Amino acid sequence: MKRKSIIDIKEQKGKDPIVCLTAYTAPIARAVDKYVDLLLVGDSLGMVLYDYENTLPVTLDQMIEHSKSVVEASENACVVVDMPFGTYEESINLAFNNAARIMKETHCDGIKLEGGQNMYETVKYLTDRSIPVMGHIGLQPQSVVIDGGYKIKGKNKFDWSKYIDDAKALENAGAFSMVLEGMAEPLATEITSQVSIPTIGIGASPNCDGQILVTEDMIGLTNITPKFVKEYINIGKLIEEAANSYSNEVRNKEFPTKNHTYSMNPTIIKANKG
Ligand code: KIV
Repeated sequence: MKRKSIIDIKEQKGKDPIVCLTAYTAPIARAVDKYVDLLLVGDSLGMVLYDYENTLPVTLDQMIEHSKSVVEASENACVVVDMPFGTYEESINLAFNNAARIMKETHCDGIKLEGGQNMYETVKYLTDRSIPVMGHIGLQPQSVVIDGGYKIKGKNKFDWSKYIDDAKALENAGAFSMVLEGMAEPLATEITSQVSIPTIGIGASPNCDGQILVTEDMIGLTNITPKFVKEYINIGKLIEEAANSYSNEVRNKEFPTKNHTYSMNPTIIKANKG
């Protein structure tokens, strides 16, 4: 099977909805790969897998190790890797070195970074040097501390032009797509109509060119359920039920049974016992 490329993703704009999910581990990547166009190794793994308060403590090494396993376990989806906080903002050189390291060590198809107009130079520098970039504007989780929380954008203030200009800056800098996170639905619709590259919505609009969810949110493995999440199954409950059954069976000596143990020839047993 040929993996989807960033060109395939770009060509889906306005034609086929682009289906995206996050994956941080091989088992999840293996399970969802054939149903999605793009897998994002998001830095949300810091909160989902490591219980960090936000995404800021996530390191480049963590992202690289998780991404290697996702690339290894998938064969269909285009794989994009988040650049964590502090690995690209300071200079275009820092951004290039770290993005190139991600590409070389993980064999992913592109990187994602947060920011719009403020990241124009960085995105242009990377794309001019053959690093495919997905942008991320609107609610930017790496700015949660300076923003004072996770706040929906474009809802109450007359500030749409800032976000539209952010989207255009990413397009002009050569980004192949952009995530629109946590913004008023009409703003996401407007941005999608004004740029020629795909928009991928999360808490944004059905009119985006694609949608993304954090897989663990969608399968009931996280405790947070923001408005934009739809829980398709509650694996957390199933795990609890399984653990409860296992625990009862072990305590009642109902597990393991003959089916789960290795038998032996009685003569050999006797000889061993002497
Ligand atoms: O880190 C992440 O998982 C993300 C998605 C929510 C878009 O950036």
